Amino acid sequence: MTESSVVYLPSPEFVAQANVGPEIYGRADADRLAWWAEQARRLDWETEFTDVLDWSNAPFAKWFPGGKLNVAVNCVDRHVDAGKGDRIALHWVGEPGDSRDITYAQLKDEVCKAANAFTNLGVRAGDRVAIYMPMVPEAIITMLACARLGATHSVVFAGFSSAALRSRIDDAEAKLVVTTDGQYRRGEPAPLKSAVDEALGTGADAAASVAHVVVVKRTNHDPSLNWVAGRDVWWDDTVGEASPEHEAEAFDSDHPLFLLYTSGTTGKPKGIVHGSGGYLTQTSSTFHNVFDHKEGRDVFWCGADIGWVTGHTYIVYGPLSNGATEILYEGTPNTPNEHRHFQIIEKYGVTLYYMAPTLIRTFMKWGRAIPDAHDLSSLRLLGSVGEPINPEAWRWYRDAIGGNRCPIVDTWWQTETGSCMISPLPGVTATKPGAAMAPMPGISVRIVDDNGHDVPRGEQGYLVVDEPWPSMLMGVWGDDDRYRDTYWSRFAEQGWYFAGDGARYDEDGALWVLGRVDDVMNVSGHRISTSEVESALVTHPDVAEAAVIGASDETTGQGIVAFVILREGITSIPDSFEQDLRNHVAVEISPIAKPREVNVVPELPKTRSGKIMRRLLKDVAEGRELGDTSTLVDPTVFENIRSRRR
Ligand code: WTA
Repeated sequence: MTESSVVYLPSPEFVAQANVGPEIYGRADADRLAWWAEQARRLDWETEFTDVLDWSNAPFAKWFPGGKLNVAVNCVDRHVDAGKGDRIALHWVGEPGDSRDITYAQLKDEVCKAANAFTNLGVRAGDRVAIYMPMVPEAIITMLACARLGATHSVVFAGFSSAALRSRIDDAEAKLVVTTDGQYRRGEPAPLKSAVDEALGTGADAAASVAHVVVVKRTNHDPSLNWVAGRDVWWDDTVGEASPEHEAEAFDSDHPLFLLYTSGTTGKPKGIVHGSGGYLTQTSSTFHNVFDHKEGRDVFWCGADIGWVTGHTYIVYGPLSNGATEILYEGTPNTPNEHRHFQIIEKYGVTLYYMAPTLIRTFMKWGRAIPDAHDLSSLRLLGSVGEPINPEAWRWYRDAIGGNRCPIVDTWWQTETGSCMISPLPGVTATKPGAAMAPMPGISVRIVDDNGHDVPRGEQGYLVVDEPWPSMLMGVWGDDDRYRDTYWSRFAEQGWYFAGDGARYDEDGALWVLGRVDDVMNVSGHRISTSEVESALVTHPDVAEAAVIGASDETTGQGIVAFVILREGITSIPDSFEQDLRNHVAVEISPIAKPREVNVVPELPKTRSGKIMRRLLKDVAEGRELGDTSTLVDPTVFENIRSRRR
């Protein structure tokens, strides 16, 4: 038996209780749109939609036209109205050890209070609100309050620098920023609001769109906390004082719910726009089907940060629209020590556990004795997301964490797809370690060559989505051309969505996603573009030119390796130069974009037309024999590069 023909069947006990069985594929295939309409009816609509999909202005889709709903009401109020107000929505676990349990009734009050407070601060439907916060309950409350008001939120990962925050605030013309005074990072409080102050600037340089900053007290520690009178207000003084009564308005199905900036192949991050009815339909439906979630019984835990799409979809909108009870954990997996995740699983009886492969590989490095020291028998399903999971990590996950009893769902999707697109169904699919297996019911994908022809089984091609789907992006904020160019121009003739990933079907028809085929790197499940890091490096005064590649890395999937050329006239550099450049990137973008390695080289390998040959740099960084160098202007540059590599 070859490695890739080994399959893991769901247990008969799991199959017997699963939310969905194999027949759903047939049902969805028979009439895709009717099936999605059925999924949409899992939500409460104030006005019923008149059609399922309007694709007349492709690639701009209108899902469930005519329908009106309020997303926050679907995530909160309707559970309270159905008598489930006492159910815990969030078990919040703070990094220093504090915790809070928040019921759906409490969540409703908090969301209404925030909606009233934001209204008092001038926020109206259609306005944008930037959210720059660690993983505290107020972050979710803020997102839901925006949804309730029809204000479009733009969450910016709190690990991003003030420069990155500013560019996102400006692009969206955000009116309000919600943040915290500080955040805990590996056990220590660190200021956060100061980054907002820096981002917003003063005088002529001030961010023009922002009227107010609401500040949640989290660390209460920053001794030099700056306060701008008239602009800054404390959460406790505004939201804390507001009324918990709020009448929610219903919005059109395509009302923009949120923007989320993501890296593309060019330097400037783009604001991916998601709507309401279509987004929530697929988000809610996939949460139910992929995680086999049982209301009132399961405890779900998604380890993403709300700064990424996984946090939006599978911490906020998916679980809450299903009335789930979930963990919201503020900290890192090894604070105060490597037992943290397993203690949380034990304490709260976590049943569904959804993490990134990079974390699983980190657990593997820490050793099996750590999970073995805990009772993990509450777990009944494991999930993976963010990057391809290597078969070894998959098997370790199943064995060491899942006790060989939990099905694993390896879910492929993107910021742009909004929710899960390719995944096993846990009570149906015989899974292969490392494979995402099959498109979800109602989703249609192909693997094609450059000409759009299906590639034969066993061969790699481009992953495309050949039918629109409900949680698809509505566009790129303020840039329709970029939306068309990036996603729809590669296979324009066929009208297919180009995902930017390579994939293959194996001999048995299992789908394997192989990673990006463009200049986007995946570091610990974070999307970072090579050109974004290159742009940051060349803003350093000593750097003339930079080339960045993602080299394979055992733990993080890929690691960022930079090659830089110094400016004319710079003859000596300090010993700290590599570190200086790494820090420079952290300041320009975020610590997550710090190169693992910076090499100062005399020249970069270029083709005659002046293109940097990144493929060859990758060979160097990964210690391989060089590929074809015949198109290089000067093949000797590599000897120079190799000899200078530290
Ligand atoms: C990669 C995260 C293989 C892929 C939800 C995609 C994956 C990018 C998987 C999107 C998976 C995500 N298997 N690759 N299960 N999940 N990816 O926008 O390259 O942060 O294009 O969305 O992550 O990253 P994003």
